[in-house]
This record gives sequence, structure tokens and C-alpha cells, in this order.
Amino acid sequence: MELPFAEAYKIKMVEPVRRSTRDEREQWLKAAHYNMFQLKAEQVFIDLLTDSGTGAMSHRQWAAMMTGDESYAGARSFFELKDTVQAITGFERFIPTHQGRAAENVLFSALVRAGDVIPGNSHFDTTKGHIESRGATALDCTIDEARDTCLELPFKGNVDMQKLEQALAQYAEKIPFIIITITNNTAGGQPVSMENMKAVRCLANRYQKPVLFDSARFAENAYFIKMREDGYRHKTIKEIAREMFGYADGMTMSAKKDAIVNMGGFIATRRADWFEAAKNFCIPYEGYLTYGGMAGRDMAALAVGLDEGTEFETLETRIKQVEYLGRKLDEYHIPYQRPTGGHAIFVDALKVLSNVPKEEFPAQTLTIELYLEAGIRGCEIGYLLADRDPVTRENRFGGLDLLRLAIPRRTYTNNHIDVVAAALKNVFDRRETITRGVRIVKEAAYMRHFTVELELI
Ligand code: F0G
Repeated sequence: MELPFAEAYKIKMVEPVRRSTRDEREQWLKAAHYNMFQLKAEQVFIDLLTDSGTGAMSHRQWAAMMTGDESYAGARSFFELKDTVQAITGFERFIPTHQGRAAENVLFSALVRAGDVIPGNSHFDTTKGHIESRGATALDCTIDEARDTCLELPFKGNVDMQKLEQALAQYAEKIPFIIITITNNTAGGQPVSMENMKAVRCLANRYQKPVLFDSARFAENAYFIKMREDGYRHKTIKEIAREMFGYADGMTMSAKKDAIVNMGGFIATRRADWFEAAKNFCIPYEGYLTYGGMAGRDMAALAVGLDEGTEFETLETRIKQVEYLGRKLDEYHIPYQRPTGGHAIFVDALKVLSNVPKEEFPAQTLTIELYLEAGIRGCEIGYLLADRDPVTRENRFGGLDLLRLAIPRRTYTNNHIDVVAAALKNVFDRRETITRGVRIVKEAAYMRHFTVELELI
């Protein structure tokens, strides 16, 4: 008999989680203004809000914490991390930051000006926030197929080359760089193919534009290239990562994802001009250049995490768990962004709650229903997250409206995943009875989904 798949680790430390009653959850959620970010973590049974900073570190990472060098300047942990980053990415210039958005803040302070246009594939919300708050435009050039959640495409995170070329022709002088997000989080944790990265690089060269990778989940992207793209099956994840980064001028990194640390990030680049300009913003915003917002011990754990996070077994265990949830949802005929992505399942709320008008935020309504059902915290990646158009101030109802179930790395077992699937099925079975959503009571101008206050209609 063929042996079933099992995790490539065993568990050494555990943390209790608590179930709650529906009455409790109704009170808690009302007090939280129906915003998942406002709940206390102890009010959550299974937390799928994000896979960011929520993974379980390995014994090697915890051991590294003890050997971190806490010197203000020139810490050994900085140089060890810098060497690891260079070995994995090929970028020789490195600036640590406290997380991914801090890397964006530092680098974009140097590169982005009012009136600029930055084309890319579904900029993540903090990336978009850092562009729009500087008076620039984040131009989404993702392939149209990504908007059809039923389509099964191996690389649904890709950049549409025609859209990109049109943007380059139209805005030439206004484009400081092109950004590729790997994997494409907003489109459903969907990967970008090596072929697509290569094509973007060629086009960028023609227009003499640099290319920046938003690399939060680059290792998952490399895993998909290995499994789905011709010619990569026999390459290691590290070899694939090196080739990917070969098509970029630099990267911003949220290390809280594929490097499996609770906090950390960085900028790495081959360009001296980017490095010199960004350094000037690192010191006031983040800290001195050899720690940039991280403790020495955090840099030490990050170096190990980068190494482990780019091992095939780590990625296989992780992505197979996401697939496992996908298969359960298939069994129950629940629609989600297909095929299953790297870090999460994105449930297509417009298809599930088709009786809830767009203006009443169907994905947020589904997120609320799932929490009330079983204390499972998902995250709306939809019309709330999309913010208002910076010019017209209208809500942006054009894109997808998804409930993201992000799976933390090495944190939950497949029993937890079974509970998630069953709870979602219960909501799905009574979907016809859900006809009203939520209205906004209070919202911020940018990145409103973190603090928005809602009420049930
Ligand atoms: N880029 C991508 C693609 C991301 O997914 C994130 C964060 C960031 C940049 C910013 O990094 O959080 O370290 O400042 N994504 C988290 C998420 C928050 O839940 O998807 P950060």
C-alpha cells in the first residue's frame, strides 16, 4: 500500500487554544465592530487571519536566538544574515528592516515621487498604500484570467505583458520601476512563472526600467515553478530562487512569511544607487544600517529561517496542507480561487453569498459568518481592503471579493483544517438565507480594513 503523506517535522512545543460559544462570539464580534483585526486573539479558536509572523519557528531557529549578537553597530548576526541573503538571492547589498512594509517605506521614500506610475501584478495593500500615499499610482497589470476564480491555470499570478508594454509606452518617464509580487497574494497566492519573470525583464530592459520583486513568498513561488513549469523539476528550490532573483534589480522582503520568523524584513539589491539612496531613509525610519529595526537575535533566527524556508521538504509540507483544505472544499462544492495557491485558500464570496449586494461587502459578511459559526478568523481580501479610489473617493467594487483563509506555517494540524472546512460547509449550506451584509460606520483614508468599524444591516 502506498504510504500517505506526513509532515516533515515533529512537534516539540504546544500552546492551548480555546473553543467558545456562539453567544460569546456574537458579543465579542459586536464589540469589535465586526472587524476581525479588533478581536482579541484569545477570542479565536483557529486563527487564519494571516500567515504573516504566525508560523512556528524550528529548534534551529530558537537555538539561533540565543546566539544573536546585540551590538548596536557591526553585529555578527547582521553579517551572517547578509551572507545568507546573498547566497539565496545573489544580491550583495542588504538593508534590514523591521518588516516588509518598512522595507517598502525606506525604498519607496528614495524612489517614488508624486505623479509616478508603478505597474505590477496586484500590488499588496501596504505596497499600494506606500505608492498612493506618495501621490503615485499603482497600476495593476495582472493577467485577466486571474479574475475568473474557476479557471485552472498554473501561473495565475502572472503579469500581462501587453498591459505592461502599454503602460511602459504610455507613462515611460513616470515609471521609476516595475514591481512583481511573488507569489501574487491578492490574486490568491498564485505564482508567477519563470518565463513571465524573464519576459518582464526583457521588456524592462527595452525601456531601461528596473524591476523590483516584492518577495514575501518567493520560496512558495519557487516551489510552484519546480512543480508546474517545464524544465525545473530537477532543480533545487535554492537554484530556482537564484534564477528568479537574477531577473530583478532588487527586492523588498517581508520575512514574516517564507522566512518563518515572527518579525523581520529587508531590502536587497544589486544597484548601488538604490542602496545609497535607501540607506539615508533606513537610519531615521528603521535604525542603524546593521540592525534596521531588528534585534540581533531576530536577524540570527531569520538567517536560519531563510535557509530552512527554501528547503523542498518545508515547502512541500506547507503547500500540501493548503491543497488538503482545497480538496475538502471541492468535496463540499465551495467555490474558491483555483488552483489552490501557496499560503491560503481564497473563497469566492460573490459566488457563495450571491444574495448580498456588493455595496454590503459580501466577503466581509462571509468572514463574519465563519467566525460566528466556529470561532475561525479569516480575512477579507476584497472591497474593504481595496480602499476607495484616491481621486474619485468611490469604493472600488471592480475586482474580486474574497475570504482568505491563510494557513500559518507549521502551526495547525489537518484536524484543525477539517474543522475549518466543516464550519465553512455549514455556512455554505445556509447561504441562501444570508441576504444582508454590513455598512461602514467609520473608516481611515488608506488601508482602512485594519481599523474600519462596521455594523450589520
Ligand atoms: N508584500 C506582500 C505580498 C505581503 O503579503 C505583505 C504582507 C507585505 C508585502 C507587507 O509585509 O506585513 O511584513 O509589513 N502581508 C500580510 C498578509 C500582512 O496577511 O498577507 P509586512
